[in-house]
Amino acid sequence: MTQDEMKKNAAWAALEFIPRNTVVGVGTGSTVNHFIDALASIKYDIKGAVSSSVQSTEKLKALGIEVLDLNSIDSFSVYVDGADEINAQKHMIKGGGAALTREKIVAAVADTFICIVDQSKQVEVLGKFPLPVEVIPMASSYVARELSKLGGRPVLRAGVTTDNGNVILDVHDLVITEPLVLEQQINNIVGVVTNGIFAQRAADMVLVGSATGTQVIR
Ligand code: 5RP
Repeated sequence: MTQDEMKKNAAWAALEFIPRNTVVGVGTGSTVNHFIDALASIKYDIKGAVSSSVQSTEKLKALGIEVLDLNSIDSFSVYVDGADEINAQKHMIKGGGAALTREKIVAAVADTFICIVDQSKQVEVLGKFPLPVEVIPMASSYVARELSKLGGRPVLRAGVTTDNGNVILDVHDLVITEPLVLEQQINNIVGVVTNGIFAQRAADMVLVGSATGTQVIR
């Protein structure tokens, strides 16, 4: 079974946990693209979606799912998104698709975060995947110097502008043993919009697709 088939398994398994007649929070990425396909199969049973990126918005709309403005909603039950890495505490690295800031915002409003991944995303310690940090463009050199002081090796993601008009620094060589602490530390650097550690808002449930099926971790 290919990695993409495992992603698809996890994504379709998430349907079981979507309450009917509610708004659904939708993340970004190739795993989420499978989830959006799955969501389209129950589109008449949901009130619509809140999206975390222009990419997901376009796919949702193309499949006839209404996309609602987050500001028009006080709360909703479930947010479904992928991850680049996830540990046993359900802390994640996200932002491989450069959508981390909007993902963190939508996740913050949701009651429950369901993370959908293939088994390759499970790690003991976060940091092998370079940590994405969204930065205001004029601050990128300053922020890079500050990230180096934290022991990382920041690399500007070439040719990428986020949906918010910012740039991404991918920080290599971090061994993230204290995700909660590092998330806060990096967010405190002036010029950082947000970083891809999702520890303050960890996942609540993980669906792990593998060749033998989908494991549910609560
Ligand atoms: C996008 C993300 C994605 O969830 C993450 O990169 C995983 O992507 P994929 O499902 O394509 O492996 O955080 O910003």
